[in-house]
Amino acid sequence: MTQRGTLGVAVIGTGRMGADHVRRLDQVISGARVAAVVDIDTERAERLADGIDGCTAYPDPAAAMAAADVDAVLIASPGPAHEAALLTAFAHDLPVLCEKPLTPDSASALRVLAAERQLGRRRVQVGFMRRYDAEYMKLKALLDSGQLGRPLMLHNRHRNASSPPGFTTANLVNDSVAHEIDVTRWLLGQEITAVTVLRPRPTENAPEGLADPQLVLFETDGGAIVDVEIYL
Ligand SMILES: NC(=O)c1ccc[n+]([C@@H]2O[C@H](COP(=O)([O-])OP(=O)(O)OC[C@H]3O[C@@H](n4cnc5c(N)ncnc54)[C@H](O)[C@@H]3O)[C@@H](O)[C@H]2O)c1
Repeated sequence: MTQRGTLGVAVIGTGRMGADHVRRLDQVISGARVAAVVDIDTERAERLADGIDGCTAYPDPAAAMAAADVDAVLIASPGPAHEAALLTAFAHDLPVLCEKPLTPDSASALRVLAAERQLGRRRVQVGFMRRYDAEYMKLKALLDSGQLGRPLMLHNRHRNASSPPGFTTANLVNDSVAHEIDVTRWLLGQEITAVTVLRPRPTENAPEGLADPQLVLFETDGGAIVDVEIYL
């Protein structure tokens, strides 16, 4: 049962992002608590749970979501594990904050959307956090005010200090540029109608076989051109 009116959250995946979400839910955010942590690395989950009052470690998402004190789910496992966790959350009618990407490819993402539609209400928000970043919000307000006129071109520069192990050439777009796909639609209020990906000769700092950097161009239904320099 929910304790003291606080939302009991199950955090699925306790790696880099998941552990940080656990810290925030536990120490920063009011009105929520970490009721459950789940990781296939059971030792990692147990270590985290040990430090949090009333938190239980589970080896699989289904067991956590069936627990009586879990009211909401935060998915921070790798993309390929998201679909199964999302469908289980829907089966329990639990609201979900899912780290991007929703799933790694469009076929599985459409299956998730169809399952959510069957529920008849929205149950998942994808963690595109740029929409909540103070400077992006300022830019959006400026564009919406009309003071600058109609945006013609939008330049994005996406930099990471390093690429995660196992990152592929496609991941630069479907895992990283996913943020700019979201930001483009949000900032401009337009849909992306065409995408071109250009790949220069990779930096010698990139792991063997990784096409890094890439230049991604979007065209929109409002006639804007958007470029994203993605360089991990
Ligand atoms: N919003 C952002 O800017 C941002 C940044 C980095 C990562 N992410 C996203 O966050 C998610 C996690 O990334 P990360 O960098 O923390 O990865 P990570 O590899 O550091 O952590 C993933 C954790 O999930 C666990 N795991 C793997 N399969 C699992 C399963 N089936 N069930 C439960 N746990 C499982 C792993 O053991 C590991 O502890 C990904 O979806 C990634 O795209 C978002």
